[in-house]
Formats: sequence, structure tokens, C-alpha cells
Amino acid sequence: MNTSEWYRSFAAMEARGQSAIYEMLAGRIAGDAGMLALLEELPEPKRQPNLLFAAVRFLGGPVDDYQAFRTWTSAEWDRVRQAMSERRTQTNEPGRCAVLLPVLAALPQPLALIEVGASAGLCLYPDRYRYRYDDGPVAGPAAGPVVLECHTDGPVPLPGGVPRVVWRAGVDLNPLDVHSAEDMRWLECLVWPEQHERLARLRGAVRVAREEPPLLVRGDLNQMIGELVARAPANATPVVLHTSVLAYLSMEEREAFAEQVRALPCRWVCSEAAGVLPFVDRRLPRPAPRDRFVCVVALDGRPLAFAGLHGQFLDWFG
Ligand SMILES: C[S@@+](CC[C@H](N)C(=O)[O-])C[C@H]1O[C@@H](n2cnc3c(N)ncnc32)[C@H](O)[C@@H]1O
Repeated sequence: MNTSEWYRSFAAMEARGQSAIYEMLAGRIAGDAGMLALLEELPEPKRQPNLLFAAVRFLGGPVDDYQAFRTWTSAEWDRVRQAMSERRTQTNEPGRCAVLLPVLAALPQPLALIEVGASAGLCLYPDRYRYRYDDGPVAGPAAGPVVLECHTDGPVPLPGGVPRVVWRAGVDLNPLDVHSAEDMRWLECLVWPEQHERLARLRGAVRVAREEPPLLVRGDLNQMIGELVARAPANATPVVLHTSVLAYLSMEEREAFAEQVRALPCRWVCSEAAGVLPFVDRRLPRPAPRDRFVCVVALDGRPLAFAGLHGQFLDWFG
């Protein structure tokens, strides 16, 4: 996919219905030869729409009017390019815990969670958030500052409570620190402009994590996973989890990771975009929808459900 197609597809498949501003910007950039030429100064993985828009907002540029965005971004291109080169799309979305919860709660308790591609580690607190599936009651710890809403289809095995987590650890190429104001501002800029609820949820989750920061190590997931699983306490079920991470790896690296995890003494829970793990998708009971962006939730490599990218829906297979 070339850069123009990437932006057009982002507008239609990811931003539409989620962010009118990003849909408009990405759609206009897809047909703007000048902006595409600037983006093509960057290595391909760095031309991401999310990275561009977050970098502009991080530097104080406008995003709600195309001409103003274009004029500002072109004038400040050196700074924008530098921010895009130095930073990553590390969107940390605690909402994803809503699609992991039924899987985690059904495992032998307590759990030792090991997240790969953890960003700031906000998905390591499924026991601290509150949940509302459809119009049901809110479940989870009464004092939890975050309520995750999730629409369900199919026979989702909704748990009676949250899992018991006794250990939380993670690895990331660039772990973000919940105590760093700059890191947290970058995370906020990765939330799409109209998504005020997501922003509030992020801020609530950061407060949760600040009370008990996770053990986060810097490194490549394929190199660190064995060591982290070995460090998990013996009295808990070690669970390796990841959400929206493996797309950043080559197919060979994804396969090497899957092979490693299968050989480790742990369970493996993930939610990755359809297409990212073909060896998991091959076991899908029905094809992934093509008209919207879905993730596949899987346990030990066996698909269980389709899910929204940010945990907004869970479509469980029969
Ligand atoms: C889109 S973020 C998702 C963060 C978190 N899992 C979530 O769902 O909220 C992807 C994260 O994976 C990390 N990442 C990408 N490739 C990695 C690798 N090879 N090893 C460790 N972390 C990696 C990135 O730095 C980034 O923080």
C-alpha cells in the first residue's frame, strides 16, 4: 500500500465513525501531493497517520481545519519530522481490558500478568477497572475510577467478578512512565480529538497505575519474554498478554514469538487485528468482517471472539 492509499484506507476503515477530524485530515492528505512528498521523506513505518496527527498536536499545531493544518505542518516540518522519527504510536488503551476480562477471569486464579508491548502498562490492571457490558450492571471494584463500556454479541461468558492479579510486569521497546508528565502528554495526544471519554478513561487509568506502577522493562519482546515468565511468582498462573502490538513485528518475528510462548510454562491471551496472526486466524469459525476494523481475541492461539480495536465491542463465537 503506498502512502496515499494508506491515508485513504485509514480515513475509511479506522477514522470513519470514530473521528471526523482524522477522517477529514487523512482523506485530504491522501490526495495532497505536497503533503505526501513530505511524509515520504520518512521511512515507511514512520508515515503512519496516527503518528503524524499526534506529533502535530504534541507540538501545538492545529488539526480541525485542513488549510490551517497544512500551512502549519509544512512550515514546522523539521520539528514534526523529528517528533515522528523519535516517537512511536504507543497508544495505551485500558478499554482493551474489557475484551480480555472474560478470558482472564476464566483462568485458574490468581494471575501473574506479563504484557509484551505494554507502553505505560495500563492494560495490566484488569482487576482495578470497572466494567459495564451492554446495559448490565457495573461490575468491578467500587472505588475504581474507570468504567469500561463494551457492547457484546454472542454467548460472551461474562464473569461474576474481576480476576485476582498478584503480579504485573511488562516489556516495551520504549516503556512510558506514568509519573512522567511528558510521556503522559504524548499518550494523551494519541487519543483522537473528539474522543473525550477515551481521554477521561486514560487519565483515570494513569491514576490507577500511579498507585502501584508495574514492573516495566525496556527491550524487545522476543528477547525478554522468557526472562519475564521465569520471574513470575510460583503461586500464580503466568499469563502472557498483548493487544495491538504484533503488527509492529515482521511475520518471522511474530512466528518466532508464538513459537516461544507456546513452549513457555504460561497461558497466552491476545487481541490483535485480524490478519496480524494468520496462524490464529486460520482457526476462525467465520471470516473476519471486511467492512470494519476488528481484532481477534485468542487464548493459547485459539480464537474466541472478534473485538473492537479499543475494546468497544466483543463478538463471541458460539
Ligand atoms: C499500539 S501500542 C499498544 C500498547 C498496549 N498494548 C495497548 O494495547 O494499550 C504498541 C506498543 O508495542 C511496543 N512494541 C512494538 N514492537 C515491540 C517489540 N518488538 N518489543 C517490545 N515492544 C514493542 C511499542 O513500543 C508500543 O508501546
